[in-house]
Amino acid sequence: MVSFAFAALALAAVSATSAAPHAHGDHEHVGRGLGLGAWYQERADTAELFRRAPGDGPRPGSPQWLAQYPPAGGVPSQAEKDIPAAWLAAYRAAKAAGKIPNIPVSQLQPAGFPSYGALSATGPEVCSSTPKCRAADDIWDAPANTIGISFDDGPWQGTNKLLDFLERVNQTATHYCIGRNIAQHPQEFLRAFNLGGEMAVHTWSHPLMTNQTDYGVLVELGWTMQIIYDLTGGRVPKYWRPPQGDADNRVRAIAKEVFGMTVVFWNQDTEDWSLSTPNPVYSAQETTDLLNKWLSGPKNPGLVILEHELTDDTVGIFMNTTWPGIQAHNWQPKSIAQMLNLPFYQNARDSKSPVTPQAEVVVSVPAGGGGQVPTSSNPPPTNTPPPTRSSGPTSPTSSDSTPAPTESGSEEPDNSAGRASASALAVLSAALAVLLL
Ligand SMILES: *[C@@H]1O[C@H](CO)[C@@H](O)[C@H](O)[C@H]1NC(C)=O
Ligand SMILES: *[C@@H]1O[C@H](CO)[C@@H](O)[C@H](O)[C@H]1NC(C)=O
Ligand SMILES: [Zn+2]
Repeated sequence: MVSFAFAALALAAVSATSAAPHAHGDHEHVGRGLGLGAWYQERADTAELFRRAPGDGPRPGSPQWLAQYPPAGGVPSQAEKDIPAAWLAAYRAAKAAGKIPNIPVSQLQPAGFPSYGALSATGPEVCSSTPKCRAADDIWDAPANTIGISFDDGPWQGTNKLLDFLERVNQTATHYCIGRNIAQHPQEFLRAFNLGGEMAVHTWSHPLMTNQTDYGVLVELGWTMQIIYDLTGGRVPKYWRPPQGDADNRVRAIAKEVFGMTVVFWNQDTEDWSLSTPNPVYSAQETTDLLNKWLSGPKNPGLVILEHELTDDTVGIFMNTTWPGIQAHNWQPKSIAQMLNLPFYQNARDSKSPVTPQAEVVVSVPAGGGGQVPTSSNPPPTNTPPPTRSSGPTSPTSSDSTPAPTESGSEEPDNSAGRASASALAVLSAALAVLLL
């Protein structure tokens, strides 16, 4: 591959912005796989976007360490001066090459699908995953007889209890982490990683991603990848899961074309996150009944059940119902990458294997689609008070608010010896973009 010259690049100050609260509905709709393959080419150089010398940075959890990231309680700045130049250059190159579709940012409807003006949410241009449109590279299902074990929204209050259990039963899981939760709980993150967990991206501040501008998508994904990269010895995440399962072709393309990541959804949802709220979607008994139904049901496709490492309640459901059901019905439990026999990271096979040149481990994700259509949505953000809920099991609506930022970032210490030269990368990317056209 092409090799770049590198120079130090100081990271711009990160300042806080605020996000408006928004509500989001849930729906039942049959989606289809739609061909994105034509413009989904694997990038080979994503690691160049996250160059820091592993182990050189400040101690995780220290003020100097936190200052490298957007404020833990806030949302990342979308001002160009605050976005690492290498990410901007990669985004601009992808955009110039026609790889990021020009569809509008979704407008959120209080209790309906995100809307796209004249375009259909389920049409081939948009392919919104909220009404369950499946794109070719999406992951929704597990292989037959297999259950993908994954937990969203950590590291949080349920994480240590979950890890105690996973360690005892010797089970690897995927952790779709919220970046700002990692900033607040780096030790829990490191514990999950050191146990061999597959560490993946669930955005920095848990917004509905189709309602973000391109820059909003860029910083929500980029900063979460950066903090995971920094804490895992330079591993570049390969998978991400959107909050409330909300993605479309624009959001998918930014994740794939700029950052090399594949999107992962689920095919069953217990709404476990709502159990400790005043109006849970399902009672504890209904949750148990649902899980038992799925786990004793058909084995093809396999199961990907949305579960959370939020609280002792959500973790308790996994320990007391999901796990015994897995054993009783002879499912093969695996992490999401394991179940597809794919690497955990773009530049490492798993959490123990060495970091290698990226091209050695990047392989194409098999086409998704097919199988059962899920019917539920993902929960609201986790470091806010419990959401209010509006209705019963078939059409829940969760409110999803983002707290005002509590601190502003500061200049990153210059530990960026290996960071890509923004201008070199930009020039090269632009040249490549022209060649590819
Ligand atoms: C997100 O949706 C809300 C509600 O429709 C809308 O007012 C807002 O402009 C959208 N955000 C963006 C960035 O377009
Ligand atoms: C734990 O699981 C791994 C992978 O399945 C296996 O290789 C290993 O032998 C197991 N360890 C124990 C103590 O059962
Ligand atoms: Zn979530």
